[in-house]
Amino acid sequence: MIKAGVVGYPVKHSLSPKIHGYWLAQLAIEGAYDLYEIAPENFADFLASLPEKGMVGVNVTVPFKEQAFQLVDSLSSEAEAIGAVNTIIVQEDGTLHGHNTDAFGFIENIRQSVPSFAFKGKKALVLGAGGAAKAVVTGLLNEGVEEILLTNRTKARAELFQKDRVTIVDWQEKGQTLAQIDLLVNTTVLGMQGQPPLDISLENLSSQALVTDIVYKPLETELLVAAKQRGNSTVDGLGMLLYQAVAGFNAWFGKQPQVTDILKEILLKDV
Ligand code: ATR
Repeated sequence: MIKAGVVGYPVKHSLSPKIHGYWLAQLAIEGAYDLYEIAPENFADFLASLPEKGMVGVNVTVPFKEQAFQLVDSLSSEAEAIGAVNTIIVQEDGTLHGHNTDAFGFIENIRQSVPSFAFKGKKALVLGAGGAAKAVVTGLLNEGVEEILLTNRTKARAELFQKDRVTIVDWQEKGQTLAQIDLLVNTTVLGMQGQPPLDISLENLSSQALVTDIVYKPLETELLVAAKQRGNSTVDGLGMLLYQAVAGFNAWFGKQPQVTDILKEILLKDV
């Protein structure tokens, strides 16, 4: 029995067991993917115990992604760039390799949903400066976008992102940048169930621009509804979650799983 799982605190609402469980059944793999709710003071011990538990690895979620980054023995270049680890692979010698599949998940979701969208040379506006924004910015820069305008309610947090090809914009001025962009990405929690709405008028947005939201609860956020109404292409946030899971599954269980509409429908019952 090949064993993996997801560790977080709290972790009960994670959709990952449903995703991996579905793939394990579909590919007839004798494997398990379980939830590990671990109190913060026990997280380091939990990671150290993965090899003796016979586990091939874990996904790491809130609030442990940065701590995992510090604790693993080696890092992928993506994890290094993002400064956080969401996927740990136990190596044959028992050491822990830290990877981050969120940037891949974000990019692959767009690629599969809107194959005609080319990233190279494009201009993007990214809303937010949390962990998700880091993965999105890393993914976009790797794909060769020309410029990222980044804006966040707390400007000081946005300023930590400043580097070549990333320009910081005031939160109040985000609406004025819309005429120049090809891609709009919401990485904030605004628009999520139980959170305030994202207050942005799309009036000046080019009709060719792609609008994406990493929020998937609800699947059709107000941002996506408003974008669709004016004829813009949109990509929802559930696919990012699914594609980020592909890389971990492949590394642990040795087979390439498929992201399908059926799997999305199964997950939507829980969203
Ligand atoms: P994650 O790791 O999922 O990105 P996070 O680090 O908590 O989560 O980031 C949440 C994002 O939503 C941040 O960009 C946050 O802005 P601040 O840095 O100013 O907190 C943004 N956010 C949360 N509530 C917000 C609100 N009411 N208005 C504007 N932005 C908000």
